[in-house]
Amino acid sequence: SRVGVVLPAAGSGERLGSAVPKQYIQILGKPLFMYAVEQLISFSWVKTVVLAADDVATMRHFLSSLDDPSKVVVTLGGTSRHESISRALKVLPDECEIAIVHDAARPIVSEQVWKGLVLEAAEHGAAGLTRPLVSTVVQPDLNGFLHATLVRKNFLNSETPQAFSAAILKAAYSKMSDEERINGTECLDLVHRHCNVRAKLVPGPSDLWKVTIPRDLHVCEGTLSALDC
Ligand code: CTP
Ligand code: MG
Repeated sequence: SRVGVVLPAAGSGERLGSAVPKQYIQILGKPLFMYAVEQLISFSWVKTVVLAADDVATMRHFLSSLDDPSKVVVTLGGTSRHESISRALKVLPDECEIAIVHDAARPIVSEQVWKGLVLEAAEHGAAGLTRPLVSTVVQPDLNGFLHATLVRKNFLNSETPQAFSAAILKAAYSKMSDEERINGTECLDLVHRHCNVRAKLVPGPSDLWKVTIPRDLHVCEGTLSALDC
């Protein structure tokens, strides 16, 4: 089946707190977002990679250094990740039967993991990677006192990449509410609520992380230099 990738690459990286949005930070001489782009376009089974960016001109400038930029499309992102994905889906070619959603802030995932997710999505309509929780989740009350505590082993962290039947994902985004657009963070939840599709949850490898806080930059450089990317 034909696979298209949606790569949200807008946003300001508030939690990282750097002057430059994190997708443009140079890691070992390359902007962070380029790692995922270069890997994805190298796969023969990937048709198109759609990037949603705040600064389309800057993004295109970086992409012009690629040997073959023909598989990459850049479109304008939005004020939330959901909005950026929604806009990117509008330019995803119709011929793509499977849509992968990933993050520009996640540089490397093994090809085996990508392929496994595509197979699960083809069978179940939606699939996403998970990791066990590291810390216990507690819910505070409005005064900052403990209200409730979750049993850690009953929950998982949802990670990306995630993969979907493209028709299902587009239908879910067309039904997204304003509340979801602003506060939602989870594509698997959108296809569950609006299309009644329960995603297959696939346990991911332990080195699955997103560059979110300053420490992650060190993890990123260390991991990428060990991989010799
Ligand atoms: N993203 C996007 N459009 C937005 C916000 C985020 O395309 N309006 C993208 C980011 O580029 C990132 C991915 O979604 O690759 C995951 O989002 P996150 O890590 O939350 O990035 P930011 O929103 O930029 O960071 P923060 O939440 O710390 O501000
Ligand atoms: Mg964010």
